[in-house]
Amino acid sequence: RKRLGILTSGGDCAGLNAAIRAAAKRAQAYGYEVYGIRAGTVGLMHRPVDAVRLDPNDFDGTLLRKGGTVLGSNNSNDPFHYVDSDGNRLDRAPEVAQGYHELGLDALIGIGGDGSMAILRRLAGIGGWNFVGVPKTIDNDVGATEVSIGYASAVNVATNALDNLQPTAASHNRVMVLEVMGRDAGHIALAAGISGGADVILIPEIPYSIDAVAQQIEAIRKSGRNFALVVVAEAVQTESGEPVRQQHTGGGTTYGGIGHYIGGRIAEATGAEVRVTVLGHVQRGGMPVSRDRLMASVFGVHAVDLVAQGKYDRMVAWQNRQVVDVPLQDAIDQFQAVERDSSLVRTARGLGISFGDTDP
Ligand code: F6P
Repeated sequence: RKRLGILTSGGDCAGLNAAIRAAAKRAQAYGYEVYGIRAGTVGLMHRPVDAVRLDPNDFDGTLLRKGGTVLGSNNSNDPFHYVDSDGNRLDRAPEVAQGYHELGLDALIGIGGDGSMAILRRLAGIGGWNFVGVPKTIDNDVGATEVSIGYASAVNVATNALDNLQPTAASHNRVMVLEVMGRDAGHIALAAGISGGADVILIPEIPYSIDAVAQQIEAIRKSGRNFALVVVAEAVQTESGEPVRQQHTGGGTTYGGIGHYIGGRIAEATGAEVRVTVLGHVQRGGMPVSRDRLMASVFGVHAVDLVAQGKYDRMVAWQNRQVVDVPLQDAIDQFQAVERDSSLVRTARGLGISFGDTDP
């Protein structure tokens, strides 16, 4: 029997379990034996490899609905630059690459974002793996696909946050600043800002000035409304272009902080009473919305179909209302930021939302 491995890599998000479930079910139909590797590439470093047999007959019906990943993941330790408990930097990629063979795999499906895809593709090259990728990330910045698992659920959480901030903003005549995730892109801020009725959306792709933000808040006041909702993407920088992000304890990446800077500047510029909410990991762990379960199911099934056809070094993708597959390298090369004249940006402007710039 063919043996198929599945792992989840990078930051978790809602819908990963639905993808694991779909892939395991499809693999069962082909008669494959399926192993779920624990903790992303870390599971492949262990000897014996840290993996668990996945049999859909044992699934208890909750997997589709569950946030996070039952296999565990790893967002901070790249095997090419592994940091051990004493702080030593090691190249553990050969061990990870060999882990695939230790487990006797014929193919591996990796569910990850662009960073994970790049690492997994390199490992596949070293280890001679038969590898297929499935895109996931709340940030929605993976190239060559219009959809990544987890984005819709994160946008939903951020939209709900605005729903909860609006009544308290109105009751106290406050400007509420909501900082959302998105890593280097503004997709979550843009979609949640439109859906949740923001007055200002600040994203890293569109330079802003506090003057323009203050003008928008003044205009709202003049119209007779005394509160405002401001959404800020985490990668937005200070007005003079300094990054404001706290160091991430795991090293490598960074997270959080710009919301407080923006809130402070708005208070100075407008005299408004401002409160800041940093939404953080709440955006990652929720129950997946139906769109994420759907795409996870589509991707999980298609990934196993690719394995059955012997089509490797591909990533499953959603384009023009269909599931397709693309060269893995395309997804890695084509980081997808918000385009400044995209439909959503134009929609936001059409609704009177300000990006803090001078664009009409
Ligand atoms: O890429 C997903 C993401 O949640 C980003 O939006 C955020 O910048 C980062 O991961 C947070 O990473 P960590 O969970 O390692 O703190």
